[in-house]
Amino acid sequence: MHFATTTSLLLTALTTLTTAIALPNPQSAHGDGAENEQGPVSFLWPHDRAWKDEDDNTGPCGSRQLANENRTDFPLMNGAVALTILDDAADVFLRISYKENPIAQSDFVSLSADIESLDAGHQCYNHFTIPRDVEAGDVATLQLEYRAEDDGKIVSHYACADITFVPNSQFTKSIPCFNVTSEEFVEKKDEESAAVGVRVQGVLMGAVMAARL
Ligand SMILES: *[C@@H]1O[C@H](CO)[C@@H](O)[C@H](O)[C@H]1NC(C)=O
Ligand SMILES: *[C@@H]1O[C@H](CO)[C@@H](O)[C@H](O)[C@H]1NC(C)=O
Repeated sequence: MHFATTTSLLLTALTTLTTAIALPNPQSAHGDGAENEQGPVSFLWPHDRAWKDEDDNTGPCGSRQLANENRTDFPLMNGAVALTILDDAADVFLRISYKENPIAQSDFVSLSADIESLDAGHQCYNHFTIPRDVEAGDVATLQLEYRAEDDGKIVSHYACADITFVPNSQFTKSIPCFNVTSEEFVEKKDEESAAVGVRVQGVLMGAVMAARL
């Protein structure tokens, strides 16, 4: 499949990069067979709940797993949500619930402006504010809803990521926050290969560095 090839390319480059600069928490989803372990769009950071093909069209979380103790620490300020897009998607909604264990769609409120369409690649959203009354130690669940192809039909998909807010002073991770499409990778590959490597590495390195500031 077309996107599988471009995706492998992207994931390989990312894996190499994250390994090279030793991010504190390299994503295991970037290993071989990642295409079979997640939906068309998934959380790169914070990590989402275990993915199951038979559940990912069921809202609000695309998983039967209840919010558990496996939450990712999330900074109260300057947080970001990074997505991996394996296949083009449309009508993407990023929402949040401040409930301990949200089970209904009505438990979630909008976190970011609605996204009309997403091209395969990586996207990171960092323009949102957490309400003032949310404190360190509070928990929340991020929800991703989007429409993408499943067996030839365009259907809704869901994914959730469970988080715990921490003060920024205690947040030591660097969020892999950058935007790049698979197409950009392919275009660059068609150019001279030496230039490509430098360019791609430069773009990613810049983004990762920026995310660390
Ligand atoms: C918690 O999440 C991480 C990242 O997805 C995963 O590797 C680990 O197995 C999970 N642990 C449990 C107890 O579910
Ligand atoms: C990625 O693109 C989205 C949509 O254009 C934008 O809102 C976001 O700020 C971008 N993220 C970065 C890290 O530039």
